[in-house]
Amino acid sequence: MAIMIKTSQEIEKMRISGVALRKVHNAIAPHVIAGASTMDLEEIAVAKIAELGGKAAFKGYHGYPAALCTSINEEVVHGIPSKKRVLRDGDILSIDCGVIIDGYYSDAAMTYAIGKAEPRIQKLLEVTQASLEAAIDQCKVGGRLFDIGATVQEICEAEGFGVVRDFVGHGIGRSMHEDPQVPNFGTRGKGLRLKAGMVLAIEPMINAGKPEVRVLPDGWTAVTVDGSFSAHFEQTVAITENGPLVLTR
Ligand code: MF3
Ligand code: CO
Repeated sequence: MAIMIKTSQEIEKMRISGVALRKVHNAIAPHVIAGASTMDLEEIAVAKIAELGGKAAFKGYHGYPAALCTSINEEVVHGIPSKKRVLRDGDILSIDCGVIIDGYYSDAAMTYAIGKAEPRIQKLLEVTQASLEAAIDQCKVGGRLFDIGATVQEICEAEGFGVVRDFVGHGIGRSMHEDPQVPNFGTRGKGLRLKAGMVLAIEPMINAGKPEVRVLPDGWTAVTVDGSFSAHFEQTVAITENGPLVLTR
């Protein structure tokens, strides 16, 4: 598939989608507390997406059953919301959500600590989020695709964290997944040249331990092989002549 370059009108539509998605995340955030189930959060997301006139991007995608991915502790991505999964103090929870508004997709994820996480895990959240911000700064016309992943990898590996290889970011637009793939690792100065009008979902998935992951028998939930906790932050970012524009801010 070729890379779909967006016009400024399309980027504006994607920004509307992205702002709606941020409202969904903001509606969920106060409910990410001990005692809440991940299905409680799913219900809040579904109601908010409907209120905003959007459509849940994940639901039905290759048969995925929910609007959110809710991944607790050693779960890396694609955890399925459930009444039986109740948050406890010291847990971490990654919430990933995508919406479609007027045909345009946006995709964003955050990881929260419930109560107080252990210091090393708190550090994992801070470093993963900081690596995403530094990666966003690489989204400049004339830069290279793998500058993005190299930046994530340098920052996270310097702290001794494991960069997940089996899942990557992606182009996004009228589909959730467009070319190019956007790995969270790579060699600086390599990869295709970044152009104005590219829109990328950048999503570091970083483990407190080793990078390896496996998928549980439910066919979706990816967990760390070593049982270490994992963090995930994601933003949808447009590359413009004026620099990176985070559409999901
Ligand atoms: N942010 C994830 C991605 O880009 C979310 C997909 S979840 C799925 O792949 F359930 F829809 F697959
Ligand atoms: Co994504």
